[in-house]
Amino acid sequence: MIKIGVLISGSGSNLQSIIEAVNNGSIVAEIALVISNNEEAYGLTRAENYGILTKVIKHGDFGQCQEFDQELLRVLKENRVDLVVLAGFMRVLGAAFLAAFPDRVINIHPAILPSFPGTHGQEQAFDYGVKLAGCTVHFVDEKVDHGPIIIQAAVPVLSNDSEDCLGARILRCEHKIFPRALALYCAGNLRIEDRKVKISGVDESALEDQFLISC
Ligand code: GRF
Repeated sequence: MIKIGVLISGSGSNLQSIIEAVNNGSIVAEIALVISNNEEAYGLTRAENYGILTKVIKHGDFGQCQEFDQELLRVLKENRVDLVVLAGFMRVLGAAFLAAFPDRVINIHPAILPSFPGTHGQEQAFDYGVKLAGCTVHFVDEKVDHGPIIIQAAVPVLSNDSEDCLGARILRCEHKIFPRALALYCAGNLRIEDRKVKISGVDESALEDQFLISC
């Protein structure tokens, strides 16, 4: 069975949705451990509540990003992790890390990529005045929020929306598409061809309803 290592920095609501999907059998995998670079991340408590191994690796304890990455790698390999999942992990992983997990690092971003990459993507989309906001699950490559896209969901922006209100609706969508993307990966249903992610084994006619309208 595929072993997942989840990297977090904060609240861990996406982590929670992944744990629930593993527990109800929609993701056929095991969560080997959860690593946080922030010792106060509430996601650590969520993981502990389910008896999942947790580890804090603080980037500030390392002089250079590469050393932090190497320690992450060491711990992930020690726990025989196959797939690295970035669930609100607020650090950029370097080339050496990614080379150790080729096409095996998956991230969620709270905007419809390639628009609005980076830390403030959600805020920037709102300030720009987009009518459709949303979220993206994608494979990670060496550029930030850039790798092949697995699933996206669109969230309409309402006229009286605040950024927080919109953000909460986007987060609810994240909780749907992230476990779904991981389920597809773990079932062997994703294949990357010319940076396009081909999905097999699902009825794609249902995708529009599921992800555009009801999120
Ligand atoms: C999510 O919006 C995710 O897209 C972004 O950081 C946030 C993490 O939320 N990368 P949580 O920690 O999963 O609650």
